[in-house]
Order: sequence, then structure tokens, then C-alpha cells
Amino acid sequence: MAKSYPTPSEEYLKAVDKARRKLRGLIAEKGCAPLMLRLAWHSAGTFDVSSRTGGPFGTMKNPAELSHAANTGLDIAIRLLAPIKEQVPILSYGDFYQLAGVVAVEVTGGPDVPFHPGREDKPTPPPEGRLPNATLGNDHLRQVFAAQMGLNDQDIVALSGGHTLGRAHKERSGFEGPWTRNPNIFDNSYFKELVTGEKEGLLQLPSDKALLDDPVFRPLVEKYAADEDAFFADYAEAHQKLSELGFADA
Ligand code: HEM
Repeated sequence: MAKSYPTPSEEYLKAVDKARRKLRGLIAEKGCAPLMLRLAWHSAGTFDVSSRTGGPFGTMKNPAELSHAANTGLDIAIRLLAPIKEQVPILSYGDFYQLAGVVAVEVTGGPDVPFHPGREDKPTPPPEGRLPNATLGNDHLRQVFAAQMGLNDQDIVALSGGHTLGRAHKERSGFEGPWTRNPNIFDNSYFKELVTGEKEGLLQLPSDKALLDDPVFRPLVEKYAADEDAFFADYAEAHQKLSELGFADA
């Protein structure tokens, strides 16, 4: 969809720069890039294109949304971010959480994801149940990413590469372990591990493995495993789309 971005004030843009610097420091200090990326994704991924509800508009700070089963553990992210948010009161929570996701990818060696400020916070959290279920397959992924959010097949595979960062925690999701051997580096190793099969100590969710069973998804997994530049280009595009769902639509 064509975008028409708002023009924020000088003061607002200064706050964005300050938040960006503070986020780099926080992530370096705490090693929390994966959690910040998950926060940004779970904030934006609730967007429903038909009702235009949910999406990256700051509702995740609300305890009602944090208590959704899919968001277990994200209260830690909100708590880590609170001291920075206090220093940039003018910034919307929607912009702030999406900026955290963009910085997390940047500082772990991933592509630069273009960031446009100006999201206005929404008062109401989305209903529970809009984020994908890790035990289901490709029909479900298309239902959530395409039918609900309005993204496409290439976006689904590229964004799945977000699992190059971080790990699952038994007490949060019931799953355990990292997807790669370098979970604090953003690279194409998620795809390399996926195409070469399961290994001791590394995780593949049913929803990750499902990508190998689809005639459209599988060639993209193979392409990203072989060509990191191609992955980075498609990832940056898909991440930007995700972070702008329902925002600045012309
Ligand atoms: C395709 C559907 C997806 C499913 C079913 C899914 C599921 C999960 C699950 C079960 C976890 C483990 C949570 C925990 O126990 O801490 C997780 C973690 C994570 N997810 Fe996803 N995810 C999906 C897509 C994405 C996308 C699109 C991104 C970002 C672009 C993403 C980024 C992450 C990150 C960075 C973590 C690690 C968090 C940490 O280390 O604390 N995921 N995901």
C-alpha cells in the first residue's frame, strides 16, 4: 500500500535520535536484542487489515495485552525500556517499540530497516489470539500473515528469519533453545540450519519446519541459506512493512 508519512516536529525527531542512542546502549549492556525484536513483532503482528484494529500502536504496554499467552516474557522488555521512555516522553509508545526492533536488528549486524516516526498510540489492545501458533503449519501462517495482517509469502519466509536471533524459553512458550549457534548475531544462519535438518541443541519449531514443505516457501528458504545479501534485502523490506502495518496508509 502506498504510504504518506507524517512530518514530525524538530523536537520529535530529536527525541527519536536520542531514543535510538539510548536503545543501542541498553541492548549492548543487557544483550536483549532478541527480546526487543520479539516485542516489536508481537506489537505489530496483531494488525487486522479488515477491521484495522491492533498493530504497532503502543498497546503492548497495557497489562491486558501483556497477559496474552503469546506475550509471556515481554513484560521484561517493557520494564527494561521504561527508564529510556521516561527520557523521551514526547515519543509515542508505538514509535518507541518499533524503533527498539529496528535497533535490535541493526546492532546485531543485520540490515538497516528504514524507520519512519509518527505512529499515534491507540487506547485499546487487540483481542487475544492474533499471533501465530508455533505448533501449526503453512495454512495457519498464511491465515495470520496474509489474510489477517496483509503481508505476502516472501514476507512470511523473510520474517521467519527473525529467529536467527534469540531462543525459546521453556517457562515462556513451552519450547527451549536457540535456532542457531550465534543467537546474538543477525545473519542467515537460521536458514542454513533449517535446510540442513535438525541438530542436537538447536530448536526448530513446527512452524519453522513447515516452511520446507511448501512449493513457494521452500525455494525462498534455500535462496536465503545460500545468499545472505538476498535475505537482508527482503528482510529489511518485510520488517519495514510489518512495523508500518496500519500506519501512514495513503
Ligand atoms: C512465523 C511465526 C512465528 C512463530 C510461530 C513464532 C514463535 C516463537 C516462539 C514460540 C518463540 C519462543 C518464545 C520464548 O519462549 O521466549 C519465539 C521467539 C522469538 N521470535 Fe518468533 N515466531 C514467529 C515469527 C517471528 C517473527 C516474524 C519474528 C521477527 C521478525 C520473530 C522473532 C522472535 C525472536 C527474536 C525470538 C527470541 C526471543 C528471545 O530470545 O527472548 N518471530 N518465536
